Amino acid sequence: MDKILIRGGKPLKGSVQVRGAKNAALPLMAATILAEQACTLHNIPCLHDVFTMDKLLTSFGAKVEFTGRYMTIDPSSIDTQVASYDLVRKMRASFFVLGPMLGRFGTAKVSLPGGCAIGTRPVDIHLKGLEALGAKIAIEDGYVIATGQLTGANYSLDFPSVGATENIMMAATRAKGLTRISNAAREPEIVDLAHFLNAMGAQISGAGTDMITVVGVDALSGTEHTVMPDRIEAGTFLVAALATHGDITALDANPDHLPNFLDKLRDAGAEVEILSSGIRVKAKNGVKAVDFTTQPFPGFPTDLQAQMMSMLCVAEGTSVIRESVFENRFMQVAELVRMGASIALDGNSAIVKGVPQIAGAPVMASDLRASAALVVAGLAASKGETSIARVYHIDRGYERIEERLASLGADIERVQE
Ligand code: EPZ
Repeated sequence: MDKILIRGGKPLKGSVQVRGAKNAALPLMAATILAEQACTLHNIPCLHDVFTMDKLLTSFGAKVEFTGRYMTIDPSSIDTQVASYDLVRKMRASFFVLGPMLGRFGTAKVSLPGGCAIGTRPVDIHLKGLEALGAKIAIEDGYVIATGQLTGANYSLDFPSVGATENIMMAATRAKGLTRISNAAREPEIVDLAHFLNAMGAQISGAGTDMITVVGVDALSGTEHTVMPDRIEAGTFLVAALATHGDITALDANPDHLPNFLDKLRDAGAEVEILSSGIRVKAKNGVKAVDFTTQPFPGFPTDLQAQMMSMLCVAEGTSVIRESVFENRFMQVAELVRMGASIALDGNSAIVKGVPQIAGAPVMASDLRASAALVVAGLAASKGETSIARVYHIDRGYERIEERLASLGADIERVQE
């Protein structure tokens, strides 16, 4: 397994190209199951999770060609509707194939994803939504078996779950009649998915609001689409800019995708400039403490909570961070404390008392965003060396992060463990 070594304390400066969004690419790839002809996706990020989804689609019999950032998926040769446990357990987003598979074929057998480091992550909202569309749902040997010709319905989500909104919206494109999804998630990745589905001939309106309306159609056709830029990757680089007293432009980052986050970055002392080419963050004088609570979009994204916490470890003052989306998303705290941070946990709140400096240490990555937080902390550490083990967690969501940070002036390298 690889390790990443960082000798921090250097201001990061320059521009970095933001790649296609992982959390848009994965549902987009799943949505191609609905098409009768081949689809082409541009700006696909070169990530481990994308390779896993590629393998999953191929296991159904689809033909996938993936070169560079360009992917064609021909679903016309799909001859099985079973998503096996050994692929689904590797990546929760595999569960996004349930809705499209059911919508196109009237049957789907998908392994339950199981929990992961950040929480149990049930799929009850997904299943209740599909049942509302008339699907018969059975759970057997750890698999969800869903069958039935779908009929449009009104369904209100108990919680604005991103994945459930996507699964139900995809299934509803092939349900007979009208579906209204209320209390829907509003994330930009859902808007990107709706654009793609409408280009395939679906009739979706309201994506990006909490009420999505879908008029079912008899068939969807192949089309082309370019994946939106990854707002979480962009946010990660912009946090690193402030954490290292640097100046970074995230090229192609869309400020509309990070409204609350950019406000909090400004409150923390960043000069945020919206350019035609992207978003520029410059440190002015130090990092100031800020309080924030993670919320579904347009609130502060839970996927940037850990990275922001790393930066606030060396802020002036005390910050209170509340994680309201996942039940166990403070995996980075113990490792940050080992680097000298002063953080106290109280339920789903973390009280981060800023210290003058943190020091490098050997740390362990645990989940994707906690690992990104350890990279930010290593960059902010003004003495010592940080060595991060199990970097495969990082590779799931960030393309060659060490090369791109090095191009911004970081003293960082990847070594074989
Ligand atoms: C998506 O996960 C993202 N993943 C996550 O990003 C992101 O953190 C999350 O949305 C929230 O923004 C992808 O898009 C591939 P949810 P998802 O359903 O859809 C509970 C990353 O780091 N819930 O919105 O799984 C759930 O337990 C990943 O890139 C139910 O209770 O998230 C959680 O507490 C991590 N029942 C909350 O809702 C359900 O049926 C939000 O989950 C579904 C969800």
